[in-house]
Amino acid sequence: MENKPDSKSKIITQLVNIICLLVLIILGLFFFLFKNIPEEKIAATPNNPTWNDYNPNGKPKTEEKKSEYWIAPDTNSISEEKNKELITYGRELIKNTSLYLGPNGSVAHISNGMNCQNCHLEAGTKSFGNNYSAVYSTYPKFRERSGSVENIYKRVNDCFERSLNGNALDTSGKEMQAIYAYIKWLGKDVKKKDKPKGSGIFDLALIDRAANVTKGKTVFTQRCESCHGKNGEGKMNTDNKSYQYPPLWGEHSYNIGAGLYRLTRFAGFVKANMPQGATFENPQLTDEQAWDVAAFVNSQSRPKKDLNKDWPKLSGKPFDNPFGPYADKFSETQHKYGPFGPMKKK
Ligand code: HEC
Ligand code: HEC
Repeated sequence: MENKPDSKSKIITQLVNIICLLVLIILGLFFFLFKNIPEEKIAATPNNPTWNDYNPNGKPKTEEKKSEYWIAPDTNSISEEKNKELITYGRELIKNTSLYLGPNGSVAHISNGMNCQNCHLEAGTKSFGNNYSAVYSTYPKFRERSGSVENIYKRVNDCFERSLNGNALDTSGKEMQAIYAYIKWLGKDVKKKDKPKGSGIFDLALIDRAANVTKGKTVFTQRCESCHGKNGEGKMNTDNKSYQYPPLWGEHSYNIGAGLYRLTRFAGFVKANMPQGATFENPQLTDEQAWDVAAFVNSQSRPKKDLNKDWPKLSGKPFDNPFGPYADKFSETQHKYGPFGPMKKK
């Protein structure tokens, strides 16, 4: 009987201890959560989107996300390869295409003076800089544009004939073999069929309105013209053989059959890479600025190309293909500038 109050107070003391512990744990959790959330909110200004803005599905932390992005093999390790000369020449052709194959090229004159690297940045290795990480792993593959299975040679020649507004390379020639060897070497650690994170061009979120040429002109004047020139003509290096700043339109630019002539490709490329110095982690344009400047640049004149054989199956055309006919009833103008939302395939 005398023990009762004692054991009661023991239980009460124990309970109080447990409650204190729980309160501490909860306080700790709150502290942990609230310490992190406002930081992310501050970081997410329009000019400085967080990874979560780009990755609404997975919401990992910045550092974890970054490390998942593809990193090209170390160029020093090329020397360990049997075909090291060929790989090295291939890399050189990507970086300095014009010196070899441009209008005054030392090997042939089959392209417009641009370098592959002008669009496939850092020799095709930059995250979301239109890199080649997924090329060796995913080709040959069926492509809707040609309606056929394309190998790497065909895909490279597509860029020669469109982006470089030139002629195809002979597949068995040394130059094509070198480009192939370099692309294969770049992708050597990527599993067959895999598309590493950060490959190719970033898919920029659509905006609700049509991209606006007039607003895009302002963006161009303020953020692009200083390098790419008042008339988008670019600026030659002093050797007069290649560009310091490549052209964005006009007779020396990519033609109307090129990937960048599609607004999603241009806007995604520019968002993650331009003005020069911008990266995927550190974009310098808002999404709207990227879409609008894409509209302005692609409203200017550029070389033509016969595209009659493209997209043999209408339903396979991307929604931002600027040339009819289409499988739907939206106009060419809407397919060129948007709004794309209503016609985007699920
Ligand atoms: C004017 C810009 C431009 C130039 C110059 C250019 N390309 Fe491309 N290239 C593109 C675009 C845009 C794509 C399509 C990317 C996409 O849709 O994600 C592309 C795609 C490719 C692909 C397929 C990539 C993939 O993952 O499917 C290869 C390979 C390629 N280019 C090789 C080359 C080579 C080699 C050169 C130089 C001879 C070159 N390109 C020059 C813009 C360019
Ligand atoms: C500080 C100079 C600079 C500014 C400003 C700049 N660029 Fe570029 N841009 C470059 C350089 C240099 C390259 C080629 C990159 C390379 O070869 O590594 C390039 C390449 C490009 C390309 C691919 C090649 C081509 O000519 O088609 C596009 C598209 C492009 N820039 C668009 C833009 C747009 C749009 C803006 C403005 C929002 C812009 N750039 C601002 C320097 C600049």
